[in-house]
Amino acid sequence: MQQVLQYIDGRRKQHEAELIELLQIPSVSADPAFAADVKRAAEWVQRRLQGMGLAAELITTGGHPILYAESPPMPGAPVALVYGHYDVQPPDPLDEWITPPFEPAVRDGKVFARGATDDKGQMLTHVESVAAWLAVAKKVPLQVKFVIEGEEEVGSEHLGEFLRANTERLACNCVVISDTSQFAPGVPAITYGLRGIAYFELRLTGPKQDLHSGVFGGGVANPANALTKMLGALVDERGRVMIPGFYDDVAALTDRERKEFASLPFDEAAFKQQLAVDQLAGEEGFTTLERRWARPTLDINGLTSGYQGAGAKTVLPARASAKFSCRLVPNQDPTKVAACLRKRLTELLSPGIKMELVEHHGAPGVVMPLESPFLQAAATAVEAGFGRRPVFIREGGSIPIVNTFADLLHADVLLLGWGQNDDNPHSPNEKFSLDDFHRGIRASAALWQELAQIKK
Ligand code: BES
Ligand code: ZN
Repeated sequence: MQQVLQYIDGRRKQHEAELIELLQIPSVSADPAFAADVKRAAEWVQRRLQGMGLAAELITTGGHPILYAESPPMPGAPVALVYGHYDVQPPDPLDEWITPPFEPAVRDGKVFARGATDDKGQMLTHVESVAAWLAVAKKVPLQVKFVIEGEEEVGSEHLGEFLRANTERLACNCVVISDTSQFAPGVPAITYGLRGIAYFELRLTGPKQDLHSGVFGGGVANPANALTKMLGALVDERGRVMIPGFYDDVAALTDRERKEFASLPFDEAAFKQQLAVDQLAGEEGFTTLERRWARPTLDINGLTSGYQGAGAKTVLPARASAKFSCRLVPNQDPTKVAACLRKRLTELLSPGIKMELVEHHGAPGVVMPLESPFLQAAATAVEAGFGRRPVFIREGGSIPIVNTFADLLHADVLLLGWGQNDDNPHSPNEKFSLDDFHRGIRASAALWQELAQIKK
């Protein structure tokens, strides 16, 4: 083990160079214009795994390819499956990046690029740790299987099908995912809960084309006005989502969990400063961590209507649309939430306006049991990499496929986040600390050793 860690320490520069290479590929899964680049990123990961002697194959799907590889079986030891993604979010708004999103730049020990933390940098830690074991010991202490996909950022549409068709091949005792965050710098964490998601697009149409707002305004329903009225009615002053039925199945926070959240070293002033806001907001009666990790929400993600150019234009727009999503907590069913929403929007629709509601991806939230021996082994490995025992946290983001892994493979899911809360995933100037990258590779190498000791 010590030799593996020394080997990793000695290869810091090579690891960083590899990450930078992968970050140069604009693998934006949401935009069809980047499909060839998404494939190129998959092939890059495939070559890296093949380079260390693993058979790695690209599986074609109706969308972007899935990369599958495995190290040799180790009889008697459990099997770990690494899940990660090589696709990234769109880089917009481009003019807010200090250096271009696909020209990785290192400043102050951090690499800045789209995908740096989410998830290329984090995913690569497990690839490099397996490479280190193979180079030093000629074997990994347990069998590691890799499922690296290219559609996580668009809801993992085709991955479920692959998992269902390959349950035997993918059989494992635990699933390892590094696509979350540490609690704070110097406070590593293991995440035992994530929120789910239900994503929607609401399209309203009025007259057949844009109209003069003086000639027609007041006499014809305005889709932009209608949209703001509808959306405005969905969340009240107290931060409650105003959709009948929305809270019906919500799993309430236990007193014990509330106490544990409250005991974490959360610095609210620093959090406000990080975001440059003078006040925080959210559902009444809950703390900031409770609101972000364990309460459901509704947030508008994008709004489009009318004139967006320079100066003023007196126009009554023919169309208005919004993209918005609910973050869900365990027990809430995305399909049921969608039905409740549709009903409410129909009630709120103004006369003279037509409505179309598109349901994009949905996934339920999760909470994992804390008693798992795999989780305890992971805590020891995180300590080996980061020099400090992790705290156990929940987080507000979603990894849609986590439930499917747990249900289908009956495996414990380990969410070992190496990122930081201010790494700017999905935002301009996304980054990943090269120290965290390096520590993540060390922790991952230690993880294989720790997990291998668990009796199956
Ligand atoms: N890495 C994130 C998920 C995440 C971020 C979990 C921070 C916990 C903390 C992941 O890549 C992601 O962004 N997922 C999407 C899923 C969606 C597109 C279905 C999300 O949460 O918005
Ligand atoms: Zn991610």
